[in-house]
Amino acid sequence: MSQPISTAVKIGTAEAPDGGAIPRHVAIIMDGNGRWAKARSLPRAAGHREGAEALRRIVRAAAEFGVDYLTVFGFSSENWKRPAEEVTDLMGLLRLYLRKEIAEIDREGVRLRVIGDRDRLSDDIIKLIEDAEQRTGANTRLNLTVALSYGGRAEIVRAAQRLAKAVRAGSLDPEDINEDSFHRHLFTADIPDPDLVIRTSGEKRISNFLLWQSAYAEYVFMDKLWPDFAGEDLKSAIAEFGGRKRRYGAAG
Ligand code: FPP
Repeated sequence: MSQPISTAVKIGTAEAPDGGAIPRHVAIIMDGNGRWAKARSLPRAAGHREGAEALRRIVRAAAEFGVDYLTVFGFSSENWKRPAEEVTDLMGLLRLYLRKEIAEIDREGVRLRVIGDRDRLSDDIIKLIEDAEQRTGANTRLNLTVALSYGGRAEIVRAAQRLAKAVRAGSLDPEDINEDSFHRHLFTADIPDPDLVIRTSGEKRISNFLLWQSAYAEYVFMDKLWPDFAGEDLKSAIAEFGGRKRRYGAAG
């Protein structure tokens, strides 16, 4: 679903394209932190730090632009396979983000949610997530969802298991397993499907991100590395989205 721009929307001083459409839900695969660091002969951790800065910028820009939902891929279930030091760095950044940013996020009216397999996260991070979700739970300006320890296939398997258990318990008729009931068992049960999925860094893959939810999303692949991603880039992806014709499988 998308909403027409009725009035000029601003990112900084730039006008959004009139007559285009603002996607209600933008999802981003934030890729390229490592290459950004390598190009500067810096450790990968420096790239992730700049990536966290870019996330701050884009949360603000998305809210200014009138996007209702922003979902970002912060750490995939496959990212656990990275060297222990890098995993520790990423978890440290996450801690910092949850501790330091939460007051700002709350002040800006952003509701934070985390999706993914929490069992693999450390207890202190789980507590920080729960506190952040509770603190921002009533905010409505922008819904920010961070996918952490998240994999799309695992999410679908988890939903299937939950439905199977409900059938076994006698509370669900197999005939009532359909797209709606399946959706209600995903992490994103109360989040609309993404309209626009952006991947940075020139890679053209989905990488197990929101597989079910992105069935009819528009994809925009951009060459910019994530740490360089700015409000202007989000604006240009949204403009590209605004020029697309969505048919959801119907004849054009
Ligand atoms: C991809 O870059 C990015 C990640 C693996 C994680 C994204 C993390 C951040 C933006 C840091 C802050 C986020 C949170 C939620 C605290 P890459 O390392 O795969 O880059 P490369 O492909 O160039 O090596």
